[in-house]
Amino acid sequence: MSPRTDDVSRYLRQTQELFGDELYLNISSQPSMSGMDGGFGSDLTAFEQEICQCQKCPLGQSRNKFVFGVGDPNASLLLVGEAPGAEEDKLGEPFIGRAGKLLDKILAAIGRNRQKDVYICNVMKCRPPNNRDPLRSEVDQCEPYLLHQIHLIKPKLIVALGRVAGQTLLNVDKSLKSLRNTFHDYHGTPLMVTYHPAALLRNQDLKRPTWEDFKTIKDYLDSSK
Ligand code: URA
Ligand code: URA
Repeated sequence: MSPRTDDVSRYLRQTQELFGDELYLNISSQPSMSGMDGGFGSDLTAFEQEICQCQKCPLGQSRNKFVFGVGDPNASLLLVGEAPGAEEDKLGEPFIGRAGKLLDKILAAIGRNRQKDVYICNVMKCRPPNNRDPLRSEVDQCEPYLLHQIHLIKPKLIVALGRVAGQTLLNVDKSLKSLRNTFHDYHGTPLMVTYHPAALLRNQDLKRPTWEDFKTIKDYLDSSK
């Protein structure tokens, strides 16, 4: 199967999970997102209410809080991490631990914050036990939620934070280094991959390349206003 065909069948499978056998097509605008408002809440608050009791995968049993996402519903920049950690699971908000504090500093450096033209969420809305990597089967259940968030927010750019988020969204097995410095495509929206802020806490040497990435991100968003 070619990668494109693979993308299409994955999209169709996800759409079917959400909306059943009815297929909405709107070829003229953003074909990869078409029909995403067919079954789910028409704004982020309604959508969160609709899915926050999710039990589609086993993480629904082990979680404390469902971590939907936080930020500006009309943000041009969408940051996507891997999955909630212990503190996020406790409080229901993404990136509030040490890594999140560093992320807030990075955002301040490009003149934004989590309420101002940024939306922050994760691929997985529930915490995997002991922070293990999410399983493909769990991602398959959860990723349609991210797709609908993207449909509602309509960001100009998605930034995947860290190798796991990047690999998962792009469905590839490449190193973080090789995923950086490229504008990928995620269902019709440009996507960049950069280091996870937790990696920066472990390795100071990653701060400079991350800052280069965020300058690129800022330039891209400024130029597409
Ligand atoms: N790491 C993530 O990837 N997401 C969070 O929300 C917190 C830490
Ligand atoms: N490994 C990760 O998981 N994330 C990074 O950002 C870098 C290395």
